[in-house]
Amino acid sequence: MTGDAADARGPIAASPTWSPTWSPAWLPDGALAALGRRRVRVAGSGPLVGTVRAEVAAATARWGGAVVDDEAPADLILAVAADARPVGPEGFTVERSAGSLTVRAATGYGLLQGLWHVVRYGEAAFAADGGAPARVVGAFAPAEPIRMLDHWDNMVVHPVMGQVERGYAGGSLFFSDGRVRDGAADLGRVRAYARLLSATGVNAVAVNNVNVGPTEARLLTEHLPGVARLAEAFRAYGIRLYLSVSFAAPMTVGGLPTADPLDPAVQRWWSAATAAVYAAVPDFGGYVVKADSEGQPGPFANGRDHADGANLLARALAPHGGTVFWRAFVYDHRQDWRDRSTDRARAAHDHFAPLDGRFDENVVLQVKFGPMDFQTREPVSPVIAAMPRTRVAVELQVTQEYTGQQKHVCYLGTQWSEVLGFRFWGADGPSVADVVGGRGPARAGAGAGGRAAGVVGVSNVGTDEHWTGHPLAQANLYAFGRLAWDPGLAPEAALDEWARLTFGDDDAVVAALHRLMDDSGRVYESYTAPLGVGFMVTPGSHDGPSVDGYEYSQWGTYHFADRDGIGVDRTLATGTGYAGQYPSPWRETYESLETCPDELLLFFHHVPWEHRLRSGATVAQHVYDSRWDGHARTVEMIAEWAALRGRVPDDVHDRVAARLVEQERSAREWRDQVRTYVYRKSGVPDSRGNPIC
Ligand code: GCU
Repeated sequence: MTGDAADARGPIAASPTWSPTWSPAWLPDGALAALGRRRVRVAGSGPLVGTVRAEVAAATARWGGAVVDDEAPADLILAVAADARPVGPEGFTVERSAGSLTVRAATGYGLLQGLWHVVRYGEAAFAADGGAPARVVGAFAPAEPIRMLDHWDNMVVHPVMGQVERGYAGGSLFFSDGRVRDGAADLGRVRAYARLLSATGVNAVAVNNVNVGPTEARLLTEHLPGVARLAEAFRAYGIRLYLSVSFAAPMTVGGLPTADPLDPAVQRWWSAATAAVYAAVPDFGGYVVKADSEGQPGPFANGRDHADGANLLARALAPHGGTVFWRAFVYDHRQDWRDRSTDRARAAHDHFAPLDGRFDENVVLQVKFGPMDFQTREPVSPVIAAMPRTRVAVELQVTQEYTGQQKHVCYLGTQWSEVLGFRFWGADGPSVADVVGGRGPARAGAGAGGRAAGVVGVSNVGTDEHWTGHPLAQANLYAFGRLAWDPGLAPEAALDEWARLTFGDDDAVVAALHRLMDDSGRVYESYTAPLGVGFMVTPGSHDGPSVDGYEYSQWGTYHFADRDGIGVDRTLATGTGYAGQYPSPWRETYESLETCPDELLLFFHHVPWEHRLRSGATVAQHVYDSRWDGHARTVEMIAEWAALRGRVPDDVHDRVAARLVEQERSAREWRDQVRTYVYRKSGVPDSRGNPIC
């Protein structure tokens, strides 16, 4: 939601502080020790091979290994070779023979990814005795061509939203005082960030907020030299830079009387502006656009549709090889809560499904993973299944807007893995990861399986010394990139990689992190809004509980609780019809009370408080018990973390310990508010007899 004046949100403190030191996150010195102790040969040329060479030179100088030349024996060979096995432009192969490990790639980017692959396995990569994990050798390529992070950073500190919208980790890494950062230390930090992202497989970033203010709109014009500086820092690690742009820029920046996408003067303006961007940044990625959404300008102003709007920008970008990411987060945010026929969940499908086939080749429709707004639990957006002739990317939220604001431990890898693995057409059909990766079902006129796009996440970093406020939230950033590269990677395995890289091979620490984090998303869900109903958060900040906070507001996020029951009827038979936006078998599964999964029950159905879940518990009792037990778990987490003192760096320990105290407090508040609310509305007592406050 945007920060328009009609919004009742309280101010979020701006924190444009810049920490002069920062955590090495998952690339501490020791992460490259195994490689650094070896004799390493790097073959090939080009800027990214140069990056690989520099990484290897630094690691071997630090750890006593050596960079060797062509003829000398090597433990590790990293080579760009035109005849590399066909693993695509970003992939690589790893072979082991005669005591040495050889990484081959067709491009410098692939080689860099091969380097990070070897780093991830540490000593195990070099264990020739077969003790090393089986996956060290083989052929590797990303499942998703687009692995992008969007930053919601403002150049100017927004009076309500702060500098980073929904940011919980300080100010912007890229902007300060209305300008692009330009100091050597600042750009060094951007480069350090690029290096971290590169080690996860992320290959694209958009640096500014999708809500584009007047200053940010000029990133396209007078701030271009700054944009070029940022692009250079990212380029060193193979990451392309994108900008969010305002659809009204031809008027607000260009001085034209209209932004109508069919107006030739508007088209010329975008072509010229885009050419100027490419003159400054030759490998510029393209634009991200939030249009006709939450007050942002868009093509509706001129009676045009989203395809007209997206294609306008696509055509300006096409001659340069750029892409426009057009967001599908479009809904009526001026709803009347009494009108039960308007359902925000339906909106994106209603707007976009009819436009399938109308978007140019270089348009990617960027769809939030659920139909609402990054809730802890939502069904997967049916838009992803509805557009076989459109390139679709799924948008995830790494920043924890609704999942604990980086004050709660909430590992999101589990949620993303479920989303990416969801199969719209049943167990034998393609997954979401397949659809967005261009491996969806073949449809008439759609080509074989659609066209590839990928995965976009809203970043959770800022100028905080730990990058992410909560040090354990680094795991979300890490897992985002890894799951975008390999959606089949188990979330626990991604967590394991992160934990070992970050904290070293201390099994006790790694085991404790698994205990704290593997299930933390479900723990968070268990003390917040129940059974898929969503929200119940404080309006504006979205921090902490307010069961009726949005209930009678214009934003369309309701639970409809009354003395008889709770939930939103989204069935075809008696509700808003949203369930009908799914293909079979899910439309029937969600439609029926008998088959709808418990965790989404209140998203799809309005039920009496004493309705029995598939688990056997009544809705009221489930809410009572899970809120109670969820909070109890946060008490245990404090003790589990305390036991790690001395085994993790003190500053990390202190920061996490303090945040766990806040998490417990907040979980208690959630527990008490939700349980009390249910009791007051329903009058149903808690059969376990736990106190209602
Ligand atoms: C959410 C969030 C807003 C953001 C919006 C978006 O509604 O609260 O701050 O602008 O999503 O994704 O565009």
